[in-house]
Amino acid sequence: MPWNRQDLIAIEELDPEEINTLFEAADALKKVLGRKTAKTPALRGKHVVNLFFEPSTRTRVAFEMAAKRLSADVTSLDMKTSSATKGETLRDTVENIRALAADIIVIRHSAPGSAGYIAKILDIPVLNAGDGAHEHPTQALLDCFTLREKFGSLEGRKIAILGDILYSRVARSNIWAMNKLGAQVTLVGPATLVPREFEKMGVTVSHDLKSALADQDAVMLLRIQHERQNASAFPSINEYTSMFGLNKERLSWLKKDAVIMHPGPINRGVEIDSELADSPQSVILEQVTNGLAVRMAALYLCHGGSAEAVAS
Ligand code: CP
Repeated sequence: MPWNRQDLIAIEELDPEEINTLFEAADALKKVLGRKTAKTPALRGKHVVNLFFEPSTRTRVAFEMAAKRLSADVTSLDMKTSSATKGETLRDTVENIRALAADIIVIRHSAPGSAGYIAKILDIPVLNAGDGAHEHPTQALLDCFTLREKFGSLEGRKIAILGDILYSRVARSNIWAMNKLGAQVTLVGPATLVPREFEKMGVTVSHDLKSALADQDAVMLLRIQHERQNASAFPSINEYTSMFGLNKERLSWLKKDAVIMHPGPINRGVEIDSELADSPQSVILEQVTNGLAVRMAALYLCHGGSAEAVAS
């Protein structure tokens, strides 16, 4: 199926076929990354601008490297020293960057809907690198791409997402993506962070870790997102860890070969013990590695490339 989107704003908007088209492009681009030159001229002469209004390590570096591997030029604006600190609006910021002949904008912002808002204003591709607690589409795509590599397909697979779901854009994007790809998703955590309302998204909600982990093919841990919480959702970090932290004993509640995932950054010893994060069952660094090919595919397709062309 051809990719007909200029922007990548939310997994909610995508069809399963579009997700698979992006995966096919990412498969081909991952092969490019394995070559000696590890570069393709797909976006030569184009300029990608990264606007990260919130901190990032993985997403920002992966988007920068992805653009460079596609032979594009890249500018990453440090928002702490940008004119946004003098009161310039988001609209003025992006219109000025467009006036400098940017070809693609990648944006992370604390406001839900910010990426969709600028996509409506601009005539160039806009890729959402995380907008508040709304969506983080490339994270979900790289997570599902990693699961697809492990299992061949997500169809019928059981996946638990454990932790702070309420404030997580990663959880929301993954729920959309995993559901669209045929997986059965269970959300687990304290009731304050995993409200029953999420059942409307077609998932199972559980507040009992042991029963929720039984029979899962994969478990994705999420950190507590203090930056989006106004009040504590549980008495203390120690109490959260004692109730919901993944440790060796609790690992035995999962299937023997279950996959351990985390989008990062990890708070070791809080949502997951170090021993498990670094264990052979963990695919955490494979997720990061796959983020490069997946973001190359997203940049390339949104700029008008086709999955067939990149594969040939
Ligand atoms: N997973 C993720 O978005 O990580 P960063 O915040 O480091 O980009």
